[in-house]
Amino acid sequence: MRKRFWVLTAALAGSGCGGPFPQSALHPHSDFARASDVLFTDIFWWAAAVFVVVEALLVVALIRFRHREGRPAPTPTHGHTLMEIAWTLAPAVILVFVAVPTVRTIFATAGGAPADAVKVQVIGHQWWWEFKYPDLALTTANEMHVPVGKPVRVAITSADVIHSFWVPPLGGKRDAIPGQTNYIAFQADSEGDYSGQCAEFCGASHANMRLRVVVESDSEFGRWATVQLAGPAAPTPRTAAERGKAVFARSACIGCHTIQGVSPGVIGPNLTHVGGRTTIASGLFPNDSAHLARWIADAPSLKPGALMTRMQPPLTDADIAALVAYLQSLK
Ligand code: CUA
Repeated sequence: MRKRFWVLTAALAGSGCGGPFPQSALHPHSDFARASDVLFTDIFWWAAAVFVVVEALLVVALIRFRHREGRPAPTPTHGHTLMEIAWTLAPAVILVFVAVPTVRTIFATAGGAPADAVKVQVIGHQWWWEFKYPDLALTTANEMHVPVGKPVRVAITSADVIHSFWVPPLGGKRDAIPGQTNYIAFQADSEGDYSGQCAEFCGASHANMRLRVVVESDSEFGRWATVQLAGPAAPTPRTAAERGKAVFARSACIGCHTIQGVSPGVIGPNLTHVGGRTTIASGLFPNDSAHLARWIADAPSLKPGALMTRMQPPLTDADIAALVAYLQSLK
């Protein structure tokens, strides 16, 4: 029984050591994330040294002064000036070594960026992320693109409740507060696809409020922006996609979603180029036909509390298939 307990405990503890860790702050890929990582490592070693010294003294005291048959009780020490000065000064000095790098990192990550930084406005919504690039006049959702090796300034706010923007490999976290704008700035140092997550409890689907940041070369970023700026692709005549566009235009979809030149809704994510994204539902599911169809039919069953309700009256399977074809054609 006891053996089984230890095997189970070891297995549970060990399971935390697997990988990969897409949302680990210990694998930094930007100047911001590196600064927090250096500070963390620094303070970790101070804490480890304090732990070792304090525990060692404790163990020595326990062994040396423990009760022994026939020996008198050890005499307590009172008013030892040198010892009192030492144990007041030592922590004060250690705290200076913790405080100075901490304050320095706080200022270094306060969100200052050069004027030519790529600017992204992040708006938290229950439960998805809206990204606007004011200088490029483009809007997208849930997948943010930035160029590698260039400063990026992120202005963060919220449309409803308090969220928190956090992409551990690139830096964060910063609260998204309605009526207020908070800033972070970072410069990504390697191309890749980085996962992020809302980090402030914001309701039923807080845990499902994910995002991705695609860090790509300057030219790929430029290509992506050009595609985003273009209007939506027109579906080929007499295809499922064209029927899907008609279904979209006569359904409740238009009340909430923007497709440039087709519908003006602003409650849900902009879908003008939704077919070009890799995920749907704020990073929850791959952007494939099966998931899209299930999502359109009944979003709240896939994501608790999703504001996209079941369509009334329900769409037919043929309508849903046509809608899926249309959305996928919007690359
Ligand atoms: Cu948004 Cu938690």
